[in-house]
Amino acid sequence: MNGRRDGLAAVIVAVATAGAVAAGLIGWAAGHYTNGSTTVTVTVAGAASGQGPAGVPTAVAAGAFAFVQFACAQCHGIGGKGGVSPDVPALTSVGKQLTVAQLTRIINHGLGESANPKRPYMPVWGAVISAPQVGELVSYIRAGLPQVPGATPVSVPRKNGAAVAGSALYVRDGCINCHGPNGLGGVPNPQAPDKVIPPLSGARFRKQFNTYAKIADVIRSGSVIGRAPIVSMPHWGGILPEQDVRALVAYLKTLKAA
Ligand code: HEC
Ligand code: HEC
Repeated sequence: MNGRRDGLAAVIVAVATAGAVAAGLIGWAAGHYTNGSTTVTVTVAGAASGQGPAGVPTAVAAGAFAFVQFACAQCHGIGGKGGVSPDVPALTSVGKQLTVAQLTRIINHGLGESANPKRPYMPVWGAVISAPQVGELVSYIRAGLPQVPGATPVSVPRKNGAAVAGSALYVRDGCINCHGPNGLGGVPNPQAPDKVIPPLSGARFRKQFNTYAKIADVIRSGSVIGRAPIVSMPHWGGILPEQDVRALVAYLKTLKAA
């Protein structure tokens, strides 16, 4: 993840200095986040004036990409504008109300998970998101969550069967950050009894989660394994539409069984 972020920052600098020559490169980098060809055009326009995309400082721009990568946008809305669920606040004014230390703490430690585990809560991210990435998220929120070209959730192909849609949702909804590519697991959760966030493939998972209902239930209801800094399964009920839960489960069923 760090490599990708650094790579992108490097590409942005390259565009600023080398101009149009690097346009193809940034198109390639942006392609990892979005399918929009408009991204390329807008970014090059920013480069022509000698600035980062749309004149946004690179730390803020990197924060916009992290906001998409870690699916903050799926709960808080694109650009933190809210409107996804009455239980999830917009983030548009919080950058002026809270200090850097307060925002950093909320992202690392989560918020509200013990108050009512039946509702969406702010997940604990400290074990998953690096300190520089959290710093960039805070910069982005404090800058008022400006639009950054290319920082757009991946699009979801809906006409090729549920499993294909589910594989895109697995990235769009940020499952991949905690459960690893293709559900292979391996992401450390040092304070949890298991020490890792569980894989969503393999014999143990298949045995324990052997029905649609069991998998769909844990996606909707999440879990609270323990207090921060333990990472728990976020509560997605009221956030992910039923169709998306179905697609995610269909995708998980295509993963390695042993
Ligand atoms: C699963 C949904 C979900 C995801 C994903 C999520 N949040 Fe939250 N977030 C919440 C909820 C719910 C609250 C409100 C918690 C409360 O007040 O009890 C919240 C609160 C916050 C707050 C405090 C807002 C305030 O007004 O006090 C910040 C800041 C925040 N989230 C940032 C982020 C960032 C950055 C990310 C991505 C790394 C993120 N959130 C991802 C659900 C989510
Ligand atoms: C912030 C990290 C995080 C994110 C993001 C996340 N999960 Fe989880 N998930 C966990 C943790 C931790 C557990 C283990 C919970 C427990 O043991 O009670 C878990 C458990 C699960 C389980 C049950 C597997 C088991 O062995 O307990 C399923 C299924 C699951 N997650 C699916 C998803 C899907 C689908 C998404 C995306 C919509 C997702 N998760 C996003 C952290 C996360």
